[in-house]
Amino acid sequence: MPSEDTAARPQASSVTEMTEYVLPQHANALGNVFGGQIMAWVDLCAAITAQRHSGKMAVTAFVDDLKFQAPVKVGEVVRLRARVTATFRTSMEVEIVVEGENSRTGNRWPCVDALVTFVAIADDGTPTPVRPLLLDADDVRASQAAGEARRQQRLARTAR
Ligand SMILES: CC(C)(COP(=O)(O)OP(=O)(O)OC[C@H]1O[C@@H](n2cnc3c(N)ncnc32)[C@H](O)[C@@H]1OP(=O)(O)O)[C@@H](O)C(=O)NCCC(=O)NCCS
Repeated sequence: MPSEDTAARPQASSVTEMTEYVLPQHANALGNVFGGQIMAWVDLCAAITAQRHSGKMAVTAFVDDLKFQAPVKVGEVVRLRARVTATFRTSMEVEIVVEGENSRTGNRWPCVDALVTFVAIADDGTPTPVRPLLLDADDVRASQAAGEARRQQRLARTAR
């Protein structure tokens, strides 16, 4: 059987970008995209990133607070970019930056910044270790340290 790849992975190797066009079925009566639709795209984009990084199935374990900064309307574009910001034993923190775009003018604006924690799942359905993030630059080392501090807060919030 081939041995499992446990080597640290560079952040760039799992970055995921998605572009969605807002159609009437994505929108509320004001013509703005539903928050829940944005959340579904956030979860998808982040899940692809987590699975690219870990090489395993990954499930959503925790979503940090979400603030919707500005609406995106029917006929406009939603751009998502996700990257792994920190890795732990079986879990990973993924940041997703969402922007609105008017594709005719090129104007872009911030919509949502989200942090989602995923857990890698083995074939038997249990959490399984993930490859660490390669800490090859100051910004990635800072990102890992900040992710570890946020993880402590999440676990404290959800402790029973
Ligand atoms: C996420 C899940 C696998 C964790 O299972 P568990 O029995 O708590 O497993 P463990 O205690 O071994 O924890 C596994 C990892 O989850 C992390 N975790 C658990 N709860 C967490 C929380 N509230 N916030 C952040 N991480 C959390 C643990 O810290 C651990 O990570 P680590 O190994 O990197 O330290 C389990 O709760 C689950 O299956 N939840 C449902 C997931 C789901 O259906 N998502 C939506 C569809 S994809």
